[in-house]
Amino acid sequence: MTDSKKALIIGASRGIGLGVVNVLAERGWQVTGTTRNAAPAGSAGSAEWLKLDINKADERASFKDALSGRQFDLIFVNAGAFGPEHQDASLASDEELIQLFMTNAFSPVRSARELLPLLAPKTGIMALMTSELSSLNENPSCTYPVYSASKAALNMLTRALKETTDQHGQTLLSIHPGWVQTDMGGENATLTIAESTQGIADVFAAWRGKGGHHFVEYSGRELRW
Ligand SMILES: NC(=O)c1ccc[n+]([C@@H]2O[C@H](COP(=O)([O-])OP(=O)(O)OC[C@H]3O[C@@H](n4cnc5c(N)ncnc54)[C@H](OP(=O)(O)O)[C@@H]3O)[C@@H](O)[C@H]2O)c1
Repeated sequence: MTDSKKALIIGASRGIGLGVVNVLAERGWQVTGTTRNAAPAGSAGSAEWLKLDINKADERASFKDALSGRQFDLIFVNAGAFGPEHQDASLASDEELIQLFMTNAFSPVRSARELLPLLAPKTGIMALMTSELSSLNENPSCTYPVYSASKAALNMLTRALKETTDQHGQTLLSIHPGWVQTDMGGENATLTIAESTQGIADVFAAWRGKGGHHFVEYSGRELRW
């Protein structure tokens, strides 16, 4: 990686998103991260912070305007939510389900679609954070069904971006971070944030310029849809 590369990480206030900001900054990237609130403590000093709630169309529009004229080598839409702890679609309220699917599927893809004009042609990577749980092959027993369904929806909506990324020779990635010790992953998760995010940064380096749409985990392994 050269020190001139620019990354935009959406949903980076904590957890994996903040970890990716810090790892890329350590590797010499110029990184812009977004939060819904104040810039996080413990972030790389070189990082730029902007505000964005991906569920708010007016914020997405003004965010895009604020970035007008800039170009990124990587745009990573990481923001996500788990939904109700019980994970039972029959018990969840309509409002809970709508909120989850907006946050995990529709708003990430709307954000990605709106930001694609800022992605570098040919070498640019548009990455969206999914989960191996989204896959019928990787999650045959349907662990966490409501969360997993929202990420399955994300995967299919992400595929709909491929026609545009193909036209510009860009690479589209659906990323699985592993099971990570964050507010969402919990303390029993198998990976630290550093282990996951070093791997994710390596994935971005490996897939640069490759084109197509791929489902890849932090270790570099390709997953089945
Ligand atoms: N941890 C795991 O084991 C694991 C496994 C597979 C996939 N993932 C995925 O990895 C991503 C990051 O997870 P994490 O474990 O780091 O979770 P986390 O610690 O709960 O962080 C979630 C991040 O998403 C942001 N976010 C949520 N809703 C948003 C919205 N409407 N607009 C903008 N930002 C929003 C949060 O911002 P606020 O601070 O403002 O809430 C926070 O920065 C998620 O997409 C998650 O589904 C995680």
